[in-house]
Amino acid sequence: MQAFNASIGFDRRMWLADVTGSQAYARALRRQGLLSQHEADALVAGLDRVAAEWRDGAFAILPSDEDIHTANERRLAELVGPVAGKLHTGRSRNDQVATDMRIWLRSEAQAILAHLLALIRVAVDRAEAEIDAIMPGYTHLQKAQPIRWAHFVLSHAWSWHADAVRLAQLIPRINQLPLGSGALAGNPFGVDRPAIAADLAFDGVIPNSLYGVSDRDFVAEFLFWSTLTMTHLSRWSEDLIIYSAGEFGFVRLADAYSTGSSLMPQKKNPDSLELVRGKSGRVFGNMSGFLMTYKGLPSTYNKDLQEDKEPLFDTVDNLAGCIQIATGVLSTLQIDSDKMRASLTNDMLATDLAEYLVRKGVPFRETHHIAGRAVRLSEETNTPMSQLTIEQFKSLHPLFEADVAAVWDYERSIDQRSAVGGTSRQTVLDQVKQLREWLASV
Ligand code: ARG
Repeated sequence: MQAFNASIGFDRRMWLADVTGSQAYARALRRQGLLSQHEADALVAGLDRVAAEWRDGAFAILPSDEDIHTANERRLAELVGPVAGKLHTGRSRNDQVATDMRIWLRSEAQAILAHLLALIRVAVDRAEAEIDAIMPGYTHLQKAQPIRWAHFVLSHAWSWHADAVRLAQLIPRINQLPLGSGALAGNPFGVDRPAIAADLAFDGVIPNSLYGVSDRDFVAEFLFWSTLTMTHLSRWSEDLIIYSAGEFGFVRLADAYSTGSSLMPQKKNPDSLELVRGKSGRVFGNMSGFLMTYKGLPSTYNKDLQEDKEPLFDTVDNLAGCIQIATGVLSTLQIDSDKMRASLTNDMLATDLAEYLVRKGVPFRETHHIAGRAVRLSEETNTPMSQLTIEQFKSLHPLFEADVAAVWDYERSIDQRSAVGGTSRQTVLDQVKQLREWLASV
C-alpha cells in the first residue's frame, strides 16, 4: 500500500514549486504573528538548503517519503529542528499540492510558449525567403490550384499562432492561488491570501476554499490545449511526410531528422515527423484519461486527483520535445522548387479559364460548365489545355479571344488571388508582416 499510495516517484519534479510555495507560506505565518521573525527566517533558509540539495542531486529520498510535500518537510525538520513543525500550521497538502501544480505548470507553459514562438519564427522566415516557390495546392489530396509554398507554410504558422494565443490566455487561469484554503474549509489563522498571491506572483486568489482544493480545470484545459496543438503538429507532419515521398519530392528532410533502414540501404525515413504524428495520440490519451478520472469525483479533495500528475507531466515533456523537433525539421529541410513547379498541370488552371469568361461578363455557373468542356476536350484530344487552338476555344464560347493564352501562367493565376488571405505574393508578404509584428509584441 505504501508503494501504491506514493507519488514521490513522479511528483518530485515539483520540488522547486513546493519549496517556493512553502517559503511564501512561512512569510504568511510570520505576518499573522504565528512565527517569530527568527523562526520564519530559519524556515526560509532551511528550505533554501532543501532546494540546494535537490539542485545538486544530493536529496536522499526515504522509503517513508510519500510525496514531494512530505519529503521536503521531513528534510526541513532534519535540517532546522522542531520549528519545521510550525510550517504546516493551517495548511493542508490539499491546498499545497494544488498550489505547487499551478506554480510548476505556469512556468512550464511559459517555456512551451517560447518554443512555439521559435517554431512560428522559423516558419515566417522560410515563407519570406522562399516566396518565389510555387506548388500544387490540394483538396482531397487531388491537385486543385497553384499556390505559393510560403502560403502553405504560413497556413500552419497561423494555427500555431492561434495555439500560442490560446496558451497565453490560459496561463492567467492557471495562475490563481489555492493556498490558504486549508484542507477544504478555509484557513483558521486569517492568513492574508492576497498578500500570498502577490508574494508568489499569482494573478488572483481562488474565492472559495472547496473549489480551491478540488479544481483541476487548469489541468484539463492545458491537456486540451496540448491535444489541439499536437493535432496541428500531427497534420503538419502528415503534409510533410507526403511531400517528402518520392512521388512528390517537394521537400527533403535533413539527415539529422531522418533515419535509414536497417535493411534497405536506399531508405531515408521521416522518423522525426512520424514520431510527432504518433505522439499526438498519447497526448490525446492523456487528456481523455484524465477527464475520465476527474468526472466522477465528489467534492473536494480525493486521492484520485493524484492521477492528474503523470498525464500532465508526460504531456508537458512530449509537447516541449515535439515543438522543438518540429522547429529543427522546419529550419533544416530543403525544398525542391523545380519538382514543385514540374508537378503543376494545365488543368489546375481550369478555374482560371472559367474566371477569364467571368471577366467578360459570362455568369460563373455557365463559365464553370464551359471550362469543364475544355477539360474534356483536352482529355479527348490528348492535348494539354494550353495547346488547344483558339478555334477550339471559340467552339466552346464565342467570347474566347487570343488573349486566353495569358491564362496558362501559374504565377499570374497565383497573383490574382490577392484579396486578403490569398496566395498572391503581396498577400503572403502581408501575412509575413502581420506575424512578425505579432511576434515582436508577445
Ligand atoms: N500526493 C498527493 C497528490 O498528489 C498530495 C495531496 C495529498 N493529500 C491528501 N489529503 N492525501 O494529490
